[in-house]
Amino acid sequence: MSRFAYVNGRYLPARDASVNVEDRGYQFADGVYEVCEVRDGKLVDAPRHLARLQRSLNELRIAMPMPLVSIEFIMRETVRRNRVNYGLVYLQITRGVARRDHAFPTEPVKPAIVVTAKNLSYEKNQATAQKGIAVVTTPENRWPRVDIKSVSLLPNVLAKQQAKEQGAYEAWFVDRDGYVTEGSSSNAWIVTHDGRVVTRPADNHILSGITRAVLMNVLEALQLRLEERPFTIEESYGAAEAFVTSASQIVMPVIKLDDRMIGDGKPGSVSRRLREEFHRFAHIS
Ligand code: PDD
Repeated sequence: MSRFAYVNGRYLPARDASVNVEDRGYQFADGVYEVCEVRDGKLVDAPRHLARLQRSLNELRIAMPMPLVSIEFIMRETVRRNRVNYGLVYLQITRGVARRDHAFPTEPVKPAIVVTAKNLSYEKNQATAQKGIAVVTTPENRWPRVDIKSVSLLPNVLAKQQAKEQGAYEAWFVDRDGYVTEGSSSNAWIVTHDGRVVTRPADNHILSGITRAVLMNVLEALQLRLEERPFTIEESYGAAEAFVTSASQIVMPVIKLDDRMIGDGKPGSVSRRLREEFHRFAHIS
């Protein structure tokens, strides 16, 4: 089936979709992005993703290329044209095209916008979740503003590649004091033996995940105890359960952390329950 991408005002067949070589996204990773889950052809938590997009743009002083409602429309239209029922929609906005110079362009340029959408296998994702994933750790080496969802993802790319080479699915960044910050493309969580669900506060050292925020509502509704505090890798090794959250994985149980088995090496009951309940609390439109 042919795929389409929205590029600066036009829906193009994927093979013809390209960006300018002087796009600052390409030259400097000077741009931001969002990834939204698609279910039954609808967007999951679009308002929160758009609010975070607005925030990321503001933090980097990139102009909003068009009203948020128009961006949302383009996301929906890209999903429709690609006939995505279950999958992801990806949106990227860069500062635009200008002659290469590190400082912002002196003459304002129009931000560049790209939207793509792809189908994922629901069955494959479920099978992965039923088995649980392995996670490895890697030293935190990112800049102190990873709260901005910037396309500058080189440390994340290297961390994910390390995970892959070590037979794992995800890598957790661990800071110099032994605290887990987050995964290369997900937020990190543990469950203590007395049932408290722990995740790091959303400071500048993690991305404030939308899945993370919605999951907090799920915890409250299920009367599970949330503890928003930093946790170490040592504590994680001894945790009853661990899992990661992201738009693409929702709640993904972790069964192995480095060479240690988590719990009994099977997805824990809290993680499984949270995964099952999640979409009852998400905004799907
Ligand atoms: N990743 N932390 C990082 C570094 C991420 O890249 C992501 C998302 C998250 C979770 O955020 P959310 O729940 O809003 O998806 C946390 C997306 C899916 C990606 O880059 O593909």
